[in-house]
Amino acid sequence: MTEPTPEAWSRVDRYFAETLVGHDTALEETIARQNSAGLPAIEVAPVNGKLLHLLARMSGARRVLEIGTLGGYSTIWLARGIPADGRIITIEAEPDNAAVARANLNRAGVADRVEILIGRAADVLPTLAGQAPFDFVFIDADKESNTLYLDWAARLGHPGTVIVVDNVGRGGRVADPDTTDEQVIGTQRGLELLGSDPRFDATAIQTLDAKGWDGIAVALVL
Ligand code: DHB
Ligand code: MG
Repeated sequence: MTEPTPEAWSRVDRYFAETLVGHDTALEETIARQNSAGLPAIEVAPVNGKLLHLLARMSGARRVLEIGTLGGYSTIWLARGIPADGRIITIEAEPDNAAVARANLNRAGVADRVEILIGRAADVLPTLAGQAPFDFVFIDADKESNTLYLDWAARLGHPGTVIVVDNVGRGGRVADPDTTDEQVIGTQRGLELLGSDPRFDATAIQTLDAKGWDGIAVALVL
């Protein structure tokens, strides 16, 4: 039997991606342009982009909130998972990232259903109160603020809203009770909130993919 070495699980990830995700010019150009613009290569892996897309479709989402746009890679996957008259609000703190994302969304043909709000999510989220609630929320920004973002996801959602939190495994460091890494601590606090707050029911799975050993949490707003 093959041992789960990085070589082995990378081979499995490539096999899954080739077999089930395939190739897409807009998505591949999004990565290329994001890289050449100097953005960090921390977008979700293709298999996880496809997962977000499928979860949005499975949940019948029409209104999606994304916290952390980066270059728009996950935004494109999500935008393709909602109806043409659906809406994605995506929040990005870095104006330069937002400009890259805007161009990528245009090239992918989904800009009409995506609104990029530039600013710190902590400042932008309160401005969304009073809008129609969101059916799906993807949290993928500064991990220190995950509890804040989860609280807003519950407030801006409705019973049945699906929440996905990226990067909850952090190379295994999430299970270190003595960590001093603020991002890991923020991730832990977020998971603890999901496990204890009666507004949520949730689970998390580890992921081994093109981005290494990490994980995602999936939650339902009750
Ligand atoms: C980091 C952030 C992410 O959202 C991610 O997917 C990978 C890494 C980071 O800040 O290091
Ligand atoms: Mg991420």
